[in-house]
Amino acid sequence: MAASAALYLNPAAPVEQRVDDLLSRMTLEEKIGQMNQCVGVEHFRNNMGALTEEDLKTNTANAFYPGMMPDDLLTWTEEGKIGSFLHVLTLEEANRLQQHAMKSRLGIPLIFGIDAIHGNANAPDNTVYPTNIGLACTFDTVLARRIAAETAREMRAMNMHWTFNPNVEVARDPRWGRCGETFGEDPWLVALMGRMQVQGYQGDFGPENVLACIKHFVGGSQPVNGTNGAPCDVSERTLRELFFPPFREGVKAGAGSLMTSHNEVNGYPAHTNSWLMTDVMRGEWDFAGFIVSDWDDIEHVHDLHHTAESDKEAFRQAIMAGMDMHMHGPEWNEAVLELVQEGAVPESRIDESVRRILEAKFRLGLFENPYADEARSMEIRLCDAHRATALDAARRSIVLLKNDGVLPLQRGKHRRILVTGINADDENILGDWSASQRPENVVTLLEGLREADPDCEFVFVDQGWDPRNMDPAAVDRAVAAAADADLIICAAGEYMMRHRWTERTCGEDTDRSDIALVGLQSELIRRLAATGRPLVTVLINGRPLGVEQEAELSNALIEAWEPGMTGGTALAEIIYGDVNPSGRLAITVPRSVGQVQMVYNHKPSAYFHPVAVTPSTPLYPFGYGLGYTTFSISNLRVLTPEVAAGEPARVEVDVTNTGERAGRETVQLYLRDEYSSATRPVKELCGFSLVDLEPGECKTVSFTVSPEAMSILDARHNPVIEPGRFIIMAGNSSADESLLKSSFNVK
Ligand code: BGC
Repeated sequence: MAASAALYLNPAAPVEQRVDDLLSRMTLEEKIGQMNQCVGVEHFRNNMGALTEEDLKTNTANAFYPGMMPDDLLTWTEEGKIGSFLHVLTLEEANRLQQHAMKSRLGIPLIFGIDAIHGNANAPDNTVYPTNIGLACTFDTVLARRIAAETAREMRAMNMHWTFNPNVEVARDPRWGRCGETFGEDPWLVALMGRMQVQGYQGDFGPENVLACIKHFVGGSQPVNGTNGAPCDVSERTLRELFFPPFREGVKAGAGSLMTSHNEVNGYPAHTNSWLMTDVMRGEWDFAGFIVSDWDDIEHVHDLHHTAESDKEAFRQAIMAGMDMHMHGPEWNEAVLELVQEGAVPESRIDESVRRILEAKFRLGLFENPYADEARSMEIRLCDAHRATALDAARRSIVLLKNDGVLPLQRGKHRRILVTGINADDENILGDWSASQRPENVVTLLEGLREADPDCEFVFVDQGWDPRNMDPAAVDRAVAAAADADLIICAAGEYMMRHRWTERTCGEDTDRSDIALVGLQSELIRRLAATGRPLVTVLINGRPLGVEQEAELSNALIEAWEPGMTGGTALAEIIYGDVNPSGRLAITVPRSVGQVQMVYNHKPSAYFHPVAVTPSTPLYPFGYGLGYTTFSISNLRVLTPEVAAGEPARVEVDVTNTGERAGRETVQLYLRDEYSSATRPVKELCGFSLVDLEPGECKTVSFTVSPEAMSILDARHNPVIEPGRFIIMAGNSSADESLLKSSFNVK
């Protein structure tokens, strides 16, 4: 039959039949090709000059393929040896590569994957939203879905089909540089955010949707020493209670793909872990999508973990454990072909993987729409609606941590304001997983302030972008300039831009042994505070920072995380009170690195013996955040004092705006099983509600506590609900002093 009349090319045929038909026509080599992913040609070209072969072993952001030329990838594509590309950064290149794929024998389109973590920010000229940690601080899951849907539109406008997001790891260690790309420390909040993002990206797999990838499975967010990819050594109970739930939720939401984690889990590399990939993902949760490896991590099973004597053996172990696609490189094809020919991997196992990958390509409509329209691309990317969402998200992600009344600033009151600090006027506001964007699309804090108050003189003393190499003379200059200013705004934090991979202080593969401010930043803040001028400190960073002293010295402290392209506007609006801040911490801020692991949902004995000399409480607790009004939460009532096991409980609480401005409160509900057969955290988030209130207004908030929230794992890790008393707590942070308490019984 001529290919054009083939069933697989008929868009009206059911996907399953199309997959069967196509699979039946494919050679083994073509099947193995579908399972392989490579970096794009331009990426290859740029790196072959810049990296050595030695660098390739440790660099997880850049690659080329020794022994090959960039254009060889085009030949390989035409020969059907590559099923997917990553790190293709322009629409022109994506369309061009796709043309080569369409010339292959069966015309199977490529699927382009990209780390569109907070907008398709790794590629130029796209909307850059706040990173996941800031988004989580909005507690707004609908906003998370909207951002995902908009990101998907921008991706498809660039012919990108597959985002390596949401990252649904539960962050448990601020030393780890990737906290910023997670939704924080609470498994339930992470699960909700992840679910909504999966829905936003994938929608109904229309022409403006993309495939989501829940990652990284699993445990990389609690590395033994805080470094990315280090071993995760936790009990199966902890995996199941803490790290699995967001993945299970992502699977339920229909996530089309999953990425495994760099690390070993309790002695076995995640990439060859059949318990995780096959027993749990497929067996327990019915995961129907495909599993992709992370960057060179199957190879690392051989050269790093040493549980395979060769790459080929690592490929075998990974495939037999359940891996479907290889990120990345040409070594795969021949080795896997040999494995099948030698009988070490059955072809039926290859078919399973290829089936899953082809199914995604059909569902995304790539056979019908392999290209994106270059003329229309910029109508979608960076459109006004997307920019407005980015600004809205930035406004709501920023968390006001301290304010002695200095904020909001009044226009006309300050004649001259000193603006300084490494993050005062830098594109670093975009955050990790962003390329440099055109300056006209990025608003820095300084620019935002000048826009917000044109009558004020903002004196800028540049501290450079690099916290590791600050100039003492610039610190002196800032201190001298403070003498002549009415107020100081100092933007401190970390450096995350990926193009300066080895110079940054936070982000992927940028883990620290400390969580204090780097370089002369603390000294700068100390000396600025000593001038006696009011000091507003702004933090731009992707991990919680132990800034106890800086907080004490500042009249106000703002945690802006990585607020994205409109961050400067949002910050200025908050500083001037045009926006009333409403962000609440989705991750605990410890006082120092010695407090690690400081999380709100710790076990009861964690502080039985308090820490000597310093407090055992965090600097700022999970759920905390201030605004320019005050709220009172009162009258917690349990409507169901007794429920049967498996029935939901219902509670209500009143929230009143007791201040003078309209504002948004995030009413939080926590639960504790008072006595249980296995220990439970002192509290766990089980509900929250975003409530907008005018001054004086009071609203009643109703919560339903789900049976899942009440359940614990029995000795065999089966969920059970144990009868007894459950303590319910409502308030506006996880700290005990801000919580009302009541209880209900489970019969
Ligand atoms: C990261 C992944 C990412 C991949 C592709 C890896 O280094 O761990 O999260 O998706 O690179 O960029």
